[in-house]
Amino acid sequence: PTQPPTSGASFTIKLSEHPELAQVGGFKTFTINSIPIIVFRTGETTFKALSMICTHQGCTVSWVNSSQQFQCPCHGSKFDKDGKVIQGPATQNLKSYNTEYKSSTNEVIIYL
Ligand code: FES
Repeated sequence: PTQPPTSGASFTIKLSEHPELAQVGGFKTFTINSIPIIVFRTGETTFKALSMICTHQGCTVSWVNSSQQFQCPCHGSKFDKDGKVIQGPATQNLKSYNTEYKSSTNEVIIYL
């Protein structure tokens, strides 16, 4: 969905350089300003971007595609595919970022 930026900063992903995102259902992790951010292609023109920093104490979570969950190696928190907490000790959802697909350039903008 096209939403206004939350800050001045953005990160541009050229889809032609990332075949992992060519198909709906594809995903890839990027390091943006030292933050691991996973980007999913949710539709032909829609993308989802989530921080992989656990909201408990800051470990980096893993995406488990087979169970469509994020799991934290430190204390076992789990999050669903939208970053929502499904098991503590974390109490806050993973941070999500607004995204915008530009068909004219085949790029995805992540608003930081
Ligand atoms: Fe992730 Fe504690 S840092 S569960």
